[in-house]
Amino acid sequence: MTCGRVRHWRIDVGGQTLVLAARNNRLPECVYWGGALPTGEDLATLARAHMIDVTGGMLDANPDLSICPEAAQGFPGQPGLILRANDGTPIRPQFRFVGDVQAERTLRLTYRDDAHGIRYNASFAADPETRVIAIQATITSDVPVHLHWLAAPVLPAPQLADEMLDVSGRWCGEFQLNATPWSAGIHSRENRTGRTGHEHFPGLILPCRGATNTQGAAFGFHYGWSGGHKMIAEELPDGRRQVQFGNATDTEGAGTTFQTAPLYITYSDTGLNGIAVAFQRHLRDRIVTWPQPDRPRPVHYNCWEAVYFDHDIDTLKDIASRAAALGAERFVLDDGWFGRRDDDTTSLGDWQIDPRKYPDGLTPLIDHVHSEGMTFGIWFEPEMVNPDSDLYRAHPDWALGAPDQTLGRQQMVLDMALPQVRDYLFDQIAAVLSAYPVDYIKWDHNRVLPTPDAAQTRGTYALIDRLRADFPMVEIESCASGGGRIDFGILSRTQRVWLSDSNDALERLRIQHNAALFLPMAITGSHVGPRHCHTSGRVLDIRFRAWVAAQRHMGFEMDPRELTKDEARVLRDVTTWWKTNRDWMCAGDILRLDSADPAVIAEQQIARDGSRFVVFAGKADTSAQISPRPLRLTALEPTAQYRIHLKNRDDAIALSRGTPILKTEDITVSGRYLMDHGLTLPWSFPNMIWVIEGTKL
Ligand code: GLA
Repeated sequence: MTCGRVRHWRIDVGGQTLVLAARNNRLPECVYWGGALPTGEDLATLARAHMIDVTGGMLDANPDLSICPEAAQGFPGQPGLILRANDGTPIRPQFRFVGDVQAERTLRLTYRDDAHGIRYNASFAADPETRVIAIQATITSDVPVHLHWLAAPVLPAPQLADEMLDVSGRWCGEFQLNATPWSAGIHSRENRTGRTGHEHFPGLILPCRGATNTQGAAFGFHYGWSGGHKMIAEELPDGRRQVQFGNATDTEGAGTTFQTAPLYITYSDTGLNGIAVAFQRHLRDRIVTWPQPDRPRPVHYNCWEAVYFDHDIDTLKDIASRAAALGAERFVLDDGWFGRRDDDTTSLGDWQIDPRKYPDGLTPLIDHVHSEGMTFGIWFEPEMVNPDSDLYRAHPDWALGAPDQTLGRQQMVLDMALPQVRDYLFDQIAAVLSAYPVDYIKWDHNRVLPTPDAAQTRGTYALIDRLRADFPMVEIESCASGGGRIDFGILSRTQRVWLSDSNDALERLRIQHNAALFLPMAITGSHVGPRHCHTSGRVLDIRFRAWVAAQRHMGFEMDPRELTKDEARVLRDVTTWWKTNRDWMCAGDILRLDSADPAVIAEQQIARDGSRFVVFAGKADTSAQISPRPLRLTALEPTAQYRIHLKNRDDAIALSRGTPILKTEDITVSGRYLMDHGLTLPWSFPNMIWVIEGTKL
């Protein structure tokens, strides 16, 4: 709406309000983002109240920190758009208002720079149930131009905030949180690997001073793109702060239309958990498309760490029978079934079943898997090719990058922008899916691109979309050496992520805990690994391994022939527990608890209606003090009574000699007690986990 020379727009969503205001036909600034404003708030006043003062050493009016800050205005920081004409001349548009379309939950703004023939669109789509707003920017040009950088609509960052939380990682060490202090200048993260990457997960959380997991104000951002992103968090000389997200720079050829991926944003006044719950729900309930929404998430068995490339059909049948007896419901045949794939030097691209290993095709194995009551899934790594493959020998020109490039895991990347490459891959994959009853693909991506390229990501999306259209009942898992391709872009086409190649329960405990800031339980794969972990060398007890896997979408990946009777019993019991509880857990929320003991990583999974919860309190280290500190729970009804049961009380060890009540009895206490005092748990070794069930009475 317009008021004098100020235009303003207001978006209200689930207890938060975002106000945009623009003066003199210029691009709008976000003049308010936070808790819900009263309906009658005078937005024109907010727009005027937002203006900062001018003093010495400044321009006579402050350039707008608009949704696309303009270099042409003399903006003293990173502009929202960096563009060049065909001859290399910088283009610095000054956009002027063309039109707006506002509906109840959506807003679309159109601006244009007549001198350069460039149009800018910003769109906002708010989801009142999940409390997430998806925002996106598009530019179109009358003639082809070169894009260096386009930010999704730019937002201010909070002032009463000392640090930002962003996410780094590595193979087997995904989702490491970094707290970076705000200071003058740019904090920039750019992933130039051409996939979402382990290194820079496209997420940012801006906690206001004093915010913790369970309390305080915070702002969350996630950029839903699988081709590499850039994030900028900048404090300007005048003290204002801005956040920008967009595709990695210089990943497009000359063109006339460029669009960012959606940037998902949310504000919370219930600490980091308010952000986590918004993203978890939005991902599970809005982004992921489930072939059978009512089908319980099946317990997986994946054979990778059991047999690697050594596929012997009798061994696989034996393993499948044992996995089924433990409770598995889906058997996933991993790498090694195609071409002449006896190790990772060969055959990617040759997606024909290896007749040496499977002389009668996959039918005998699949029939056996079905006879054990499991469905069948299979591994592909479609975008890759080994130089030692029939595909590469026939089409060396289909690979991206120079022929003498440095390989990654002995492999190259196919050029997914080429329609003939996508057709070939479609035909190969469709042949397997048509010939066999496959209900699941583990879709891998094990090397980085020679150079990042947005067309590659669009090509992959197109291939997956085409396969899903023809095989709508097949679920897909996004894997990239573990968690190298996790984002809302790939997850709008897939249903599970392989969070990490680390099946080390101790590492997983932390990775899962941090990933829960963005990912719900239902899509996060977690497997019980071998007793002697292949990627860390640690030896961990089956109880710890089983319960950590039971925190997410559960599966097994060890060779079940290694299990002792006791280990098999524990695993069966935990799996049975998981199956009994998975439906409400999958539909519920993961809340990270504020642990008074840094050695304890704890979370509370709570049912949507608050009627029940389970707490997983993992001991990741030895504690500084002797006795466990009480663990405070969260998001309970203060006056309600809760029955508390220590599910695995039998796991208490001999060195726990005292009588904490939960070792022998259930208790009934108020939500207030649980939240303000907390639960006193028995003493335990590191690498153990307490599982506490709560029921509202
Ligand atoms: C990647 C995946 C593993 C496994 C191997 C197979 O590393 O992350 O889980 O599938 O590829 O080569």
